[in-house]
Amino acid sequence: MSAVVVHGIGALCTCDPLLGDAPGVIRDAALVARDGVIVYAGPEATLDRSDVPRGALEIQVRGAAVIPGFVDAHTHIVWLGDRGDEYAQRAFGVTYDEIAASGGGIRATVRATAPGTVDDLAAAGRERARRMLASGTTTVEVKSGYGLEHEAEMRELDAAERLRQWPDLPDVVATYLPLHVTPDGPRDAYMDDVCTRGVTAAAKRATFVDAYCETGAYTVAECERLFTAAASHKLRPKIHAEQLSHSGGALLAAQVGAVSADHLEHATNTDFEALSKAGVVGVILPGASLVLGGPPPPGRRLLEAGCRVAVATDCNPGTCYSESMPLMISLAVALGGLSPAQALVAATAGGAAALGLTDRGILRAGLRCDAVILETTNWVDVGYHLGADIVDSVMLEGRLEVPSKA
Ligand code: NIG
Ligand code: FE
Repeated sequence: MSAVVVHGIGALCTCDPLLGDAPGVIRDAALVARDGVIVYAGPEATLDRSDVPRGALEIQVRGAAVIPGFVDAHTHIVWLGDRGDEYAQRAFGVTYDEIAASGGGIRATVRATAPGTVDDLAAAGRERARRMLASGTTTVEVKSGYGLEHEAEMRELDAAERLRQWPDLPDVVATYLPLHVTPDGPRDAYMDDVCTRGVTAAAKRATFVDAYCETGAYTVAECERLFTAAASHKLRPKIHAEQLSHSGGALLAAQVGAVSADHLEHATNTDFEALSKAGVVGVILPGASLVLGGPPPPGRRLLEAGCRVAVATDCNPGTCYSESMPLMISLAVALGGLSPAQALVAATAGGAAALGLTDRGILRAGLRCDAVILETTNWVDVGYHLGADIVDSVMLEGRLEVPSKA
């Protein structure tokens, strides 16, 4: 049995919708976890000593704010190689599309990543996942998508599984993303392979299937074919939709009941209404929106249409090389029109919803004890203190971690 009690919490931001106004703050609170699960999240004054497990580690945080661990529901952290040169080119006005058309972009990362061993891939992913934990992320979704060829895609998913097994990293949810860059050979043969051998092998390694629906990437018909093939292997769909142009991915997400539709900068009101009706979570990726310089992330538009919203990093070597969820909260407020409370909920409970997880993202008895103890007494500082990642320590399934930012 392992148990932890956190005393002296000035503001416990539960992100629990049952507690009224977001982010569901309880003042002068305590948090108790036993064997990784929250057994008490409430006022210190009503904490009964009998609620404190014998032998528990008891810590005093002297008025600090505590929030749920971040659930980063969209990342591509398993990659090799370096695209810093593209970053520099873009600063001189060369566009993401132009770089892709000249053989760079996702294709450049595929060339560097596909030959990697599972060890190489896991080591590269580990560095990024470690930085994520230091920024307060306790669950991270990890996509394949830089392998392209079957075995290389499976090595990416095996590396994600390796990350999941490291106890000092965020929990990992794997997503098979076979439709990312287009193949050099015949497209139909690639689609046939992905929809037979690919989904069969991925079903043993991943929870979700994903596709990049975009001009220059994959069509609505190809994405739909993948989702149909994946459904018989119980891989639920997610989709990169309406990122660089309006391509129809959002309506497909609504039609197939995807767990989430991600990006959505070019989505229309009709798209948002369809996503809302179908219960598809809208994932905004404000770092990628900022870097690409197109329309803003549609946070407020999603909420106004009645959608659940998640905010995620999209951590990848092209459009957003950032592991920081606090920075994404800042950007969701500055660019996406969310209030600080809405952005915090989107980064925690919203992220969990975008991964179909009902056991986390909220600080409530009975749920996983993934929490962040902040360096400040005011939870608003998470986004307000731009680029600072004001994380003191992290509770990862009830274990206290003080991650090094070095
Ligand atoms: O989510 N949209 C496609 N995929 C990534 C970019 C990947 C890359 O540039 O390497 C994204 O933005
Ligand atoms: Fe992405």
